[in-house]
Amino acid sequence: MIDASSLDRRAEALRRDINFHNYCYYVLDTPAITDAEYDRLFRELQQLEEAHPELICVDSPTQRVGAAPLGTFSAVKHRVPMLSLNNGFSEEDIEGFDRRVREVLDLNEVEYFCELKLDGLAVNLTYENGLLVKGATRGDGSEGEDVTANVRTIKSIPRVLVGPPPPALLEVRGEVIMFKSEFQALNQRQRDAREKEFINPRNAAAGALRQLDPRITAKRPLRFFAYGIGAINGPALGESHAEIITRLRTFTMPVNDSKYSVRRGLAGLLRYYHEIAELRSKLPFEIDGVVYKVNRLEHQNRLGFVSRAPRFAIAHKFPAEEALTEVLDIDVQVGRTGALTPVARLKPVFVGGVTVTNATLHNEDEVRRKDIRIGDIVTVRRAGDVIPEVVNVLSERRPTDAREFVMPSRCPVCGSHVSRAEGEAASRCSGGLFCSAQRKQAILHFASRRALDIEGLGDKLVDQLVEGNHVRSPADLYVLSVNPLEGLERMGEKSAANLMAGIERSKQTTLARFIYGLGIRNVGEATARDLAYHFGGLQALLDADLQALQSVPDVGPIVAQSILEFFHEPHNVEVIEALRHHGVVWSESAPGFNTAPTLPLAGKTFVLTGTLPNLARDDAKMQIEARGGKVIGGVSKKTDYVVVGEEAGSKLTKAQELGIALLDETALLALLDTNRKGNLLGTDS
Ligand code: IVH
Repeated sequence: MIDASSLDRRAEALRRDINFHNYCYYVLDTPAITDAEYDRLFRELQQLEEAHPELICVDSPTQRVGAAPLGTFSAVKHRVPMLSLNNGFSEEDIEGFDRRVREVLDLNEVEYFCELKLDGLAVNLTYENGLLVKGATRGDGSEGEDVTANVRTIKSIPRVLVGPPPPALLEVRGEVIMFKSEFQALNQRQRDAREKEFINPRNAAAGALRQLDPRITAKRPLRFFAYGIGAINGPALGESHAEIITRLRTFTMPVNDSKYSVRRGLAGLLRYYHEIAELRSKLPFEIDGVVYKVNRLEHQNRLGFVSRAPRFAIAHKFPAEEALTEVLDIDVQVGRTGALTPVARLKPVFVGGVTVTNATLHNEDEVRRKDIRIGDIVTVRRAGDVIPEVVNVLSERRPTDAREFVMPSRCPVCGSHVSRAEGEAASRCSGGLFCSAQRKQAILHFASRRALDIEGLGDKLVDQLVEGNHVRSPADLYVLSVNPLEGLERMGEKSAANLMAGIERSKQTTLARFIYGLGIRNVGEATARDLAYHFGGLQALLDADLQALQSVPDVGPIVAQSILEFFHEPHNVEVIEALRHHGVVWSESAPGFNTAPTLPLAGKTFVLTGTLPNLARDDAKMQIEARGGKVIGGVSKKTDYVVVGEEAGSKLTKAQELGIALLDETALLALLDTNRKGNLLGTDS
């Protein structure tokens, strides 16, 4: 049984914590915990006080909003208090809100105005006779800070209200925010200047607005969106919140009304919530929920306020996208190109609507830059379906025994040598075909259409073959028997026989296809073809040193190094020998070619844009390349042709500006047809 004194102590501890975090958040702009953690503390205290009203005291944070203003700005007393909103987290919370509203108003169904809950900071703008005379932060709700000089630097805030004559006094309330893209650009500038980065757009906006030097504020990309009014002296702006918003817009006030909506009843609210949740990641700014406000002002007045918040409005919060947790360890994951990605193993934490246990740390430099250590408390972010990532470390909470991450020198999966090329962010396992983490992908690549072209070998099947240990390298494909195949999921007698036939057919190949199929880093189809032409046979390629490799046209030091490293791994050579042993053959020619024979489209560059009516992009690319042409991503003066499909974008405009030849699908096919590929060591049979 919990006794009264322990409840008292808990309430006291919560008050102390919340006040401390208010100070960190509102005054120092340096939150020590996430919003979700703060909300949890606040709700616990609220619930405790609801159940035991005798615990409520005047200085409880539930009885006021925010913290006292920083002494350095002069204080502004709000004519009308700037209140906060109650939060709802579940559909039941919103159902309860709607029920209470209906009970007070004695209505079956209520009309609501639905808005976005912008994640920035609230300001109050005072207009006297249409002139902006003051800008103030919310502060503790009754007294804020005078940030007039800073607010005047925000371009979207009108200095003068235009349009119809405004009331003699009008206070406009809204949120100062920073757009996500502008936040990223700002952080890039901070990085370039070797200055501290901001944690999130809200923090960056708060920091900028609360600069003592308005010249700094002016350089920060701040925005403002109005969501309501404070004091007003003059004729009312309307009878509903919707009318107020519309009037504000006629004064050229920025309002986010393209996403605002009037809805009826609980079902209408919940539909709005889901619509916005879908849109959330696509919005240019961050929101942490939606806000429902009873639309009719007369209804709002009847509902009134309860302590710190109106009873006529509620914020329906989205699952927090950020949470704090502990880094239990840092592992290394081997990706399909052999890149070693450090991954933080986290103490499970509920964030972005799911329980997260891992977060990518991208690469070694990123771990250093953010200074993430094993044992650290970190902010984890999971926005939309994006892979969770570590945003920052709470360095003040670092334990003394926190350990630094060291990139292993051997692949944790296969033990092969790990290297990191100069100027590259990724460290890579050199194990290639031998490394089991790379094996599945390597097998798929080997079997792909432009390599050995094994029909019927898709990714699901490769998964099963590798997991069941039936296939460890591409060479094992050639010793597969029907027996284990038939035991696999969705694999009948017929498809097993088809696959066997496909594998058998693939044995007859070309040297260029074979080299490409090995999946050597930096060796694409065109380079594989060049190598095949140049060396004529595989042994000559295996024997080539750095210099010999670099004498192949278009093979520079990076490509040459990749090739050498690949053939240096004994496992790769073993797989090649096994493939030949199992009957993979191609015709070889004498070595000594110095240049690749000219294919009809050699030296021509193509850019593809838009969707072609019949030809898949990959097919178009393959056919151009088979004739020696190069397909590149961006249009420049050097581009020879731009192939234009439906919904072509900026590449078309650029091509037109530069006067580059445009081809539609028919013209492309005609060009390909008159330039059938030469038949030397072509990659296609
Ligand atoms: S209305 C009396 N509408 O959320 C109600 N607030 O927790 C006053 N906010 O201080 C607020 N978007 O900083 C309102 N569409 C919106 C909002 C919004 C963001 C912020 C605002 C306020 C806090 C309330």
